[in-house]
Amino acid sequence: PSNMVALILLFVVLTSQTVCPYKCQCFTPAQVLCADDRMAYVPSDTSKEVKDFIMMTSPLAYLFPHILADSPQLTKLVFLNNVLRSIHAQAFVNLTQLQELEISGNPMLDHLFPGTFSKQGNLTKLQLNFNKFPTVLPGMFDSLKKLETLEMKSNVISHLPAFLFLNLHNLRVLDLSQNKIEDVKRETFYGLANLEILKLNNNAIGNLTHVITQLDHEVFSALTKLKVLNLRGNLLTTFSDKVFGFEASNLKELNLKDNRLTELSSLGRLTSLSDLILSSNRLSNLPEDIFRNITLLENLDLSENHFTSLPETIFSKLFRITSLHLNKNNISKVDAKLFEDQNLIQQLYLSDNQLETLPLGLFETFAIQHTVRLHGNPWKCDCHMSYLHDWVLRNSQVIEMLHRVSCKTPAFLRSQTILSLDKDQLVCPVSRDETSDLNSCSIQASGDTMIIKCKVDRCSPLTVKVQFQGVEGSIEEHILKNESESSQCSNEKISPIK
Ligand SMILES: *[C@@H]1O[C@H](CO)[C@@H](O)[C@H](O)[C@H]1NC(C)=O
Ligand SMILES: *[C@@H]1O[C@H](CO)[C@@H](O)[C@H](O)[C@H]1NC(C)=O
Ligand SMILES: *[C@@H]1O[C@H](CO)[C@@H](O)[C@H](O)[C@H]1NC(C)=O
Ligand SMILES: *[C@@H]1O[C@H](CO)[C@@H](O)[C@H](O)[C@H]1NC(C)=O
Ligand SMILES: *[C@@H]1O[C@H](CO)[C@@H](O)[C@H](O)[C@H]1NC(C)=O
Ligand SMILES: *[C@@H]1O[C@H](CO)[C@@H](O)[C@H](O)[C@H]1NC(C)=O
Repeated sequence: PSNMVALILLFVVLTSQTVCPYKCQCFTPAQVLCADDRMAYVPSDTSKEVKDFIMMTSPLAYLFPHILADSPQLTKLVFLNNVLRSIHAQAFVNLTQLQELEISGNPMLDHLFPGTFSKQGNLTKLQLNFNKFPTVLPGMFDSLKKLETLEMKSNVISHLPAFLFLNLHNLRVLDLSQNKIEDVKRETFYGLANLEILKLNNNAIGNLTHVITQLDHEVFSALTKLKVLNLRGNLLTTFSDKVFGFEASNLKELNLKDNRLTELSSLGRLTSLSDLILSSNRLSNLPEDIFRNITLLENLDLSENHFTSLPETIFSKLFRITSLHLNKNNISKVDAKLFEDQNLIQQLYLSDNQLETLPLGLFETFAIQHTVRLHGNPWKCDCHMSYLHDWVLRNSQVIEMLHRVSCKTPAFLRSQTILSLDKDQLVCPVSRDETSDLNSCSIQASGDTMIIKCKVDRCSPLTVKVQFQGVEGSIEEHILKNESESSQCSNEKISPIK
């Protein structure tokens, strides 16, 4: 019957295919995955059809010469989370077609022999992450002329030789993050004329005994195409655009988060920059023209620093800013014109500062849909808050964590949200230098009694309001007004009704 024929045919098809190496799995003839916790060697019986070979979580400790020599057509080779200790210099000599090679996650792999990658001229991606390399020998990458991505994340690299990357003219991405690099030298980056992304984050750059620690001038001068520079999590105390040499740089993203910056000397050459992250540093003031040439800036993060105020014109002409983070500083005063040019803002974080009030008109320039954070400030809910109060009421839908935007003073409004306040609760205490009838008021306390004495002219509009506030928030109000002849007084100004 035809069923039987089909079954036999299927059997023939299956068995005619090349056998998968013992203890490995082959989802297609082109892909071999070996993940056996007793497999201490690389199989030698791989076929001519295999393109991708992956070996992971095995007790594999050594790579001997000529591995996978029967599969010279291999284009992708991955060793992930094994226990490699040593790789023979001839291990990969038969694998000239390799385009991707990964040797990652070997906690005891601390060296590579010269020439290990000498036949990998077709390689475009090399990943050597999560091993124990303290450095890389000079010349190690000299054959990799087509390499586009090189990752050595999370090793223990403390220094790299000069000219290490000299032949890597096609390299686009270099990841050296999570190592122990304390200093970088200009010669290390020679040859990387097409590098676009450089990750040096989470190292110890700047960990020198000098008081001021900074990168050498022109250290990145070879990297004329660089777009993204990540220096997050290092120990720099200052930063200057002089690291890029004299050309106007093409840099679009610069991340300096989590360093020890106390000053920024100049950024004027970074005319292409759109993202600048300076959060979690020790900055307390900036020159007012520091961002002046960075007119393409879109995202600026100054959060978690020590600012108490910012120069009035520091954001002038930065018309493209969409996100501005000033949260977690010590800012107690914001100038009315600070955001004058930020028409396109979408995200403004002023939360967790020392602001008591905001000036009239501060937010009126914002033209498009935006979100604002204002919580975590000691808002002073008095007569000077009417602009902010009014704005909060009108724009409650754009304020994030609105329920945390609350008064710190005066005491009787403490912890009340600004949203819940009535306009006539925003009062100022009587002060002698005000120029109204209040001028002539005085307050005296005598025993349980508080006496407010006001000298007034005839027809004064003065009203005295007394509020007794209960602990549960109930309010009992008493109003005193000299009504007796007031109708007569007002009749003098408005036309008589009768
Ligand atoms: C692997 O490469 C070596 C050195 O180039 C060569 O002697 C050997 O014959 C190759 N092995 C195979 C199976 O092609
Ligand atoms: C790259 O691969 C081609 C075949 O696709 C091969 O002829 C050539 O030898 C390889 N290049 C290098 C430098 O190994
Ligand atoms: C900085 O250097 C000191 C002394 O050389 C060392 O003890 C410390 O661990 C280094 N810090 C970092 C973050 O590497
Ligand atoms: C801005 O750039 C111009 C020319 O490119 C330069 O002369 C000036 O010093 C720069 N200004 C700042 C504040 O960096
Ligand atoms: C914030 O300012 C207060 C006084 O203005 C000061 O005592 C405090 O140290 C400042 N905090 C920071 C983190 O700069
Ligand atoms: C208040 O009322 C008294 C009489 O009741 C009147 O003599 C006096 O002019 C009034 N004062 C004002 C300021 O209206």
